[in-house]
Formats: sequence, C-alpha cells, structure tokens
Amino acid sequence: MSPSMSLLRTALSLLALSARVLSTTSYANEFVDPDLILAKNFRNTTVEAQKTILQWADELAAKAPSGNKHDYMSWAPYWWPDCSSVGNTTELTPQQIWVACPYVVKDGQFNPDGRLVNDVGEFEDMANAILYNALAWALDGSSVYASRVAKYVSTWFVDETTYMAPNLNYAQMERGPKGQNGTHTGLLDLKCMAKIVSGVLILRGGKAREWTSEVDTGFTNWTKEYIPWLTSAPIALAEKAAANNHGTFYYNQLVALQILVGDTAGAKQTVAEYFMTQYKGQIAANGDQPLETARTRPFHYRPYNLVAMITNAKLGQYVGYSAWNLTTSNGTTIKDALEYAIAKDPGQEDPSELWQPVVAVGAMYGDPDGKFAAFMSAHAGGAYPADAQFLWNQPFSDSGFVKANATGTSTSGNNVGNKGQTGSKNGAGAVCVGSLGVLGMVAAAAGVLLLSL
Ligand SMILES: *[C@@H]1O[C@H](CO)[C@@H](O)[C@H](O)[C@H]1NC(C)=O
Ligand SMILES: *[C@@H]1O[C@H](CO)[C@@H](O)[C@H](O)[C@H]1NC(C)=O
Ligand SMILES: *[C@@H]1O[C@H](CO)[C@@H](O)[C@H](O)[C@H]1NC(C)=O
Ligand SMILES: *[C@@H]1O[C@H](CO)[C@@H](O)[C@H](O)[C@H]1NC(C)=O
Ligand SMILES: *[C@@H]1O[C@H](CO)[C@@H](O)[C@H](O)[C@H]1NC(C)=O
Ligand SMILES: *[C@@H]1O[C@H](CO)[C@@H](O)[C@H](O)[C@H]1NC(C)=O
Ligand SMILES: *[C@@H]1O[C@H](CO)[C@@H](O)[C@H](O)[C@H]1NC(C)=O
Repeated sequence: MSPSMSLLRTALSLLALSARVLSTTSYANEFVDPDLILAKNFRNTTVEAQKTILQWADELAAKAPSGNKHDYMSWAPYWWPDCSSVGNTTELTPQQIWVACPYVVKDGQFNPDGRLVNDVGEFEDMANAILYNALAWALDGSSVYASRVAKYVSTWFVDETTYMAPNLNYAQMERGPKGQNGTHTGLLDLKCMAKIVSGVLILRGGKAREWTSEVDTGFTNWTKEYIPWLTSAPIALAEKAAANNHGTFYYNQLVALQILVGDTAGAKQTVAEYFMTQYKGQIAANGDQPLETARTRPFHYRPYNLVAMITNAKLGQYVGYSAWNLTTSNGTTIKDALEYAIAKDPGQEDPSELWQPVVAVGAMYGDPDGKFAAFMSAHAGGAYPADAQFLWNQPFSDSGFVKANATGTSTSGNNVGNKGQTGSKNGAGAVCVGSLGVLGMVAAAAGVLLLSL
C-alpha cells in the first residue's frame, strides 16, 4: 500500500472509531483501581479499548489547561436573567444585565453565557487528560504520557504563578443584584477529582520517573488545604447534605482526595457515611431514583447519579469497604437502579450515558444470562468493546466483536503498547499522533463535553 493510501485508510478508520465512541470520552465520573491497571493482566478482548485509551490520551493533550488565574470561577448553568422588574426604558448591555436583573432558574436549560468563563470545561478537560495519559503510560510506558500528567497537575495545583486557590468560593455563581458569590451547586464542578486521583495513583504506584516528589508533595499540600475547606465551608456542607446526585458526587470528590493524601481510614469513614445516609433514600423499591426522575431530564439524571454511586462503591472497594450489596431503605441495590434505568425509553436523550454504568454493573455483579451484554450489543453496537472503560470494567463479555474484528489489525497479545518504548511501531500510539487533525474535527463536531447540574 502506498504511504498516502495507508494514511487515508488510517484517517478513515479513525474517523469511524471516533464517531462511534467519542460521545463517551468524558464519563460523568470514574475511579479506576490503580492496582488493577498496574498488574497489567488484561483480557485479550480489551485490545480495542486499549487502543482507544492511547488515542484519547493524545486527543485530550491537545486541550491542555491554561490555568492562568488563581480563583476558580464559573457561572450557575441554568440561571437566566429576568429584567421585567428593573424598570429600564432602553435595552441593557450584557454587563448591565449581569448585575441589574434578578436571575431565575430554568432547570435543564443551559444559559450559553455561562461558558464565557469556562473554568468548569477546563477542569473537566484536565481531569480527562490526566486519567487517559496515566492509563496510556501504564499501557505503553512512554515518558511523554507521564510528563503530561505531571505538567497538568503542576500547572493547576502547584505552580506559584498558575495554581488554583484551594476553595470554590466563586463556583457556579448566580448573577444579578444579590449574586457574585459561589453557590453550593458549584461543588459539583470538581467532582472529577476522582479521575485525577486515579491517574496520580497509577503514576505514584508505578513509580513513574516523571512524577517527581516535588509535584507529588505540591499536590498533596494543596489537597491538605482544600480538604478543610471542603469539610467546613457552608456551601460545601450544603452540597454534602444534598439528597440527590449533588450529594453523591460530593462524596466522590472528598473520598478520592482523602485517598490521595493517604488518609485511608478517613476515606473509609466518609464513604460509609454516604452509604448510610443519602444512598439509603436514593433508590425506590422498583429501582427508580425518584430524586433524579423528578428533574427535567430523567433519562440523563438516572445514569448520572448511577455513575456517582458506582464511583463511591469503587472508591469504597479500594479502601476495603464493600458497598455493592448494600441495600437502601427500600431494599434495593445499585444493580436494581441500573435495571430500572435501562428499561426506560430514552426519548430525545442520549442513550450512551448508560453504557458506562451497564458495563460497570455487569462486571461487578455478573451477567449470567447475558442480559447486559445483549443490551450493549443492541444499543451501542459492535463498537462497545472499544470504549475505554471496557478495559477496567471486567469481566464483561465482548459478544465476540473483538475476535470478529481481529482480521486486518496487527494486535494479538494482551497489551497494545510495549513497555519502555517511546513510539509503538504499529500500535495506536503512532496512528494517533498522525491523525490528530481528523480526531479533533470529529470531536469538535460531536461536541463531546457533557456538563450537568
Ligand atoms: C430592558 O432591558 C432588557 C434587557 O436588555 C430588554 O430585554 C428589555 O426590552 C428592556 N426594556 C425596555 C423597555 O427597553
Ligand atoms: C459571599 O460569601 C462570603 C463568604 O461566605 C461572605 O463573607 C460574603 O458576605 C458573601 N457576599 C455576598 C454578596 O453575599
Ligand atoms: C509542602 O508543605 C511542606 C510543609 O508545609 C513544605 O515544607 C513544602 O515546601 C511544601 N512543598 C511543596 C512542593 O509545596
Ligand atoms: C421507601 O419505602 C417507604 C415505606 O417503607 C416509603 O415511604 C418511601 O417513599 C420509599 N422510598 C423510596 C425512595 O421509594
Ligand atoms: C453480593 O452478594 C452475593 C450473594 O450473597 C455474593 O455472591 C457476592 O459475592 C456479593 N458481592 C460482593 C461484591 O460482595
Ligand atoms: C467491529 O466491526 C463492526 C462491523 O464492521 C463495527 O461496527 C464495530 O465497531 C467493530 N468493533 C470494534 C470493537 O472494533
Ligand atoms: C483470547 O484468548 C482466547 C483463549 O486463548 C482465544 O480463544 C480467543 O480467540 C482470544 N480472543 C482474541 C480476541 O484474541
């Protein structure tokens, strides 16, 4: 094959791959057990997922954080100005509207103004870039991946000139005459600390040279200042007390950070607190999550809170607290909530939000009658074993798709990359760098970032 033909073929196959999996590059949250990754005992059906991880690592690196100001800030996403009571006789400028008009909530409707200041988007990009680059380092051993993780963590949390102040006093601010202060819902903006901690634990546990003691100590120091804020500020405590997904995600964040600073006993106690309080009331006898169903987009909110519950259970498992079989006041488990959610018609909502919880639950509780694998085949199609999370949510059947597709691909072993090698010969690492343009275009078109309140 000529070089240009081969490039074209690569570009086309990447286009197909990214089109089928990109809607899930940013899982609502995740905690990946670093020991499982570092043991590298992967099933051979996960080769497609491993390739995807290497691709996402590079793709997300192109969105590296700028982090050029200390105060983290974001606007509340569902709040809109209501200028009807202001008494103005001419049109107001946007700047006048922001301070003069009272803001009212329209649940589920994003005010596009909120993205003028995009700290929340940057944080999410960074969390994903850290997770996938740490995983890519574990798979491939390339220094470039580990260096990126160290750089991102350093820029956001450690570097004197760019670090974020260790509080969320200005997150999800409401505007209008009484606003300009953070609100408790803003705590949700940093829920993906669980992804960041997963990535850091992989580099720390794998003793990556690029993960220096200076960055490790700097991030630990930052966290030791942030945890007291997270456990005492009035808005942080209000978020902790939220009965719905906000409360669930609060625990994701705190438990992950306690693990990061080595407070295993504290993490265990915190995760137990979640399962003894909020969790008890979150799943009805029929498996519905009434607090999420009450929202404007129930098909979105059910998997959203499920992911947060699953993340808490995974964090618990890591510190020796088993929550998978714990029942709510109505006798139900996480599995019951998933079964209820997958039985619902998605309507206009995106069914791919269910894929991560389906595979995670199938892996954890088992899938003896193949019901969860059949759901994935029917709704996600033959691409589902190429989703990144298929690597760590195992065992889960690939429904024969990986073998069926093996013809024509060059991978046959357990791992895609080669430890210690900077560019793989024919693995996804090399392919990915050459085709970033295509991936980037598809990513932009797909509008992958899913933000939520
Ligand atoms: C007052 O300002 C708002 C926002 O610009 C505008 O929608 C509205 O029409 C203005 N009222 C009058 C009477 O011009
Ligand atoms: C904003 O929050 C801070 C800290 O809780 C408080 O001191 C201040 O009074 C608040 N400002 C407004 C305008 O509510
Ligand atoms: C971390 O905190 C310790 C104790 O306050 C301090 O001595 C050290 O310089 C800090 N390290 C970094 C990298 O910030
Ligand atoms: C759980 O069961 C109790 C009755 O035992 C009922 O009052 C409550 O509404 C149920 N809660 C949920 C979330 O279904
Ligand atoms: C949950 O309970 C079942 C049935 O007792 C058991 O087989 C399974 O191992 C338990 N799962 C976990 C994760 O503890
Ligand atoms: C396997 O091939 C089918 C049919 O070409 C395709 O739809 C699917 O995405 C492929 N799956 C993987 C995991 O590559
Ligand atoms: C994985 O290994 C098993 C057992 O050696 C083999 O039967 C199967 O074909 C392999 N699958 C792939 C996708 O390589």
